[in-house]
Amino acid sequence: MIQIQNLQKTYKMDNKSFPILHIANLKIEHGEQVAITGPSGCGKSTLLHIIGGVIEHDEGVVMLDEITITDLTQSERDQYRRKSVGYVFQDFHLIPSLTAEENIKLVLTGMTKKAQQVLIDDWFEKVGLGNRKKHLPSQLSRGQQQRVAIIRAFITQPELILADEPTGSLDYETAQSIMELLLTLSKDQKQTLICVTHDRTLATRFPKQIEMESINVVMKQKEVKFG
Ligand SMILES: Nc1ncnc2c1ncn2[C@@H]1O[C@H](COP(=O)(O)OP(=O)(O)OP(=O)(O)O)[C@@H](O)[C@H]1O
Ligand SMILES: [Mg+2]
Repeated sequence: MIQIQNLQKTYKMDNKSFPILHIANLKIEHGEQVAITGPSGCGKSTLLHIIGGVIEHDEGVVMLDEITITDLTQSERDQYRRKSVGYVFQDFHLIPSLTAEENIKLVLTGMTKKAQQVLIDDWFEKVGLGNRKKHLPSQLSRGQQQRVAIIRAFITQPELILADEPTGSLDYETAQSIMELLLTLSKDQKQTLICVTHDRTLATRFPKQIEMESINVVMKQKEVKFG
């Protein structure tokens, strides 16, 4: 279960501080599939980054089961991210000079080459890319690139999948199939899925929807003099 209490994040720039996130209380059960919606700039990506151990918070507590994410040191956060979190981005973040399967091999450490290949073959079949393993990202459609990125997020079986606008750069039909894939895989593997999307129709496919403004105490960005 993810538990958030009194989480606050403020960005400081030019002697001013901009409070952008203040979540008093939020719980997400293990295996829940949650869509987060809300206006641009309201802190959706920032929230995912804090839960995913990508950036530090200022105040409050975020826990994943018994791990207090907000207490971890930098190296502990790196370890937590590698072990417990799979990230899916709007723009895929594939390495352009590596083939689709080479991109996946980067996250498969501590395995024999043979075991890697068995797993890779299985996953590429599962997402419908069985004959696209040797393609470079530039030789794949955007939807296919996102499927590769989805393999990368899921293949290590992390407990938590965080997706930040995973369909934001796809046409509607492709977006629907990518969202279905995320929902099906996370359900099959009993993973928690937290997905930010600006598309309210796609959000309704999730069993649980959270409107960011309804949980974020800072309703509008305030500019506060610093120091
Ligand atoms: N590194 C940073 N330094 C200063 N301000 C930042 C930084 N990152 C984000 N912000 C500000 O924090 C606010 C929230 O940003 P965030 O990216 O979380 O919004 P978002 O809800 O994901 O928006 P979008 O829907 O456009 O992706 C924005 O106003 C943004 O300008
Ligand atoms: Mg964002």
